[in-house]
Amino acid sequence: MRKVLIATDKPFAKVAVDGIRRITDAAGYELVLLEKYTDKADLLKAVADVDAMIIRSDIADKDVLAAGKKLKIVVRAGAGYDNIDLAAATEHNIVAMNTPGQNSNAVAELAFGMMVLMARNNYNGSSGSELRGKKIGIHAYGNVGRYVAKIAFGFGMDVYAFDPFVKKDAIEADGVKVVTAVEDLYSTCQYVSLHIPATAQTKNSINYELLSKMPKGATLVNTARKEVICEEDLLKVFAERADFRYLSDIEPACKAEIAEKFAGKFFFTPKKIGAQTEEANINAGLAAANQIVNFFEKGDISFKVNK
Ligand code: 3PG
Repeated sequence: MRKVLIATDKPFAKVAVDGIRRITDAAGYELVLLEKYTDKADLLKAVADVDAMIIRSDIADKDVLAAGKKLKIVVRAGAGYDNIDLAAATEHNIVAMNTPGQNSNAVAELAFGMMVLMARNNYNGSSGSELRGKKIGIHAYGNVGRYVAKIAFGFGMDVYAFDPFVKKDAIEADGVKVVTAVEDLYSTCQYVSLHIPATAQTKNSINYELLSKMPKGATLVNTARKEVICEEDLLKVFAERADFRYLSDIEPACKAEIAEKFAGKFFFTPKKIGAQTEEANINAGLAAANQIVNFFEKGDISFKVNK
């Protein structure tokens, strides 16, 4: 009997786990759960005898992949797979997949939740501002970026996007204005919402040069990865500009310094919660389970992200 492990430090909603179980039961697979683990040793032990593993932001590094002696597939129930050592997966003949698009709306909604919170001064009762009529720049027009655009139009915002990997026509078809140089996105838009993955090229790439160009009332919204921000430059921009605001789904490493010096100008979630809705858990979790069954039963390797 094939064994599927759900290893989630940040658990899925129960309704999603129940849905995953229905899929694995129907396929005749056994489902095992490792939730809220705090020790990597627990993951190493749990992965030892399973054929497949579903993870979220859980770290599937070379030790974990080597420990999965029977492991054939690991599915990241979500978009970003910077937590999987892809080379190690390939080396061990393990297929790595993600579930693109499944949790995107939840992330986009959180971006707006944070923007409204900040525009209304953390709901402290003082006069705030509105999103209507403001320019928002979407940095990377993928699945989340597209939802951000849709919601932004609902708020009456003027929507721009920069993404050299997406055809101009496809972006314009959504009514979004295309910016062809990244600097122009930052110099044009008061709000910039980040949707780039964390890669060797993007890490530390959101720097002083870009942030210092933003117009008055600059608000950077990061529901992507904290690693894409150059934190040294972020602190410099905070120090130089009284109007700068930073909203991030997960605390930056320099959180203590920002909290001490720039009170009221930031909001950080203590743990990444962009995709933490029942709907996103169900969408991504069930997609992951179906991808595993389709892989074993039909050899389907759609959504494979390693070579
Ligand atoms: C993703 O890459 O899908 C999001 O960052 C969500 O991550 P999570 O599953 O850890 O909440």
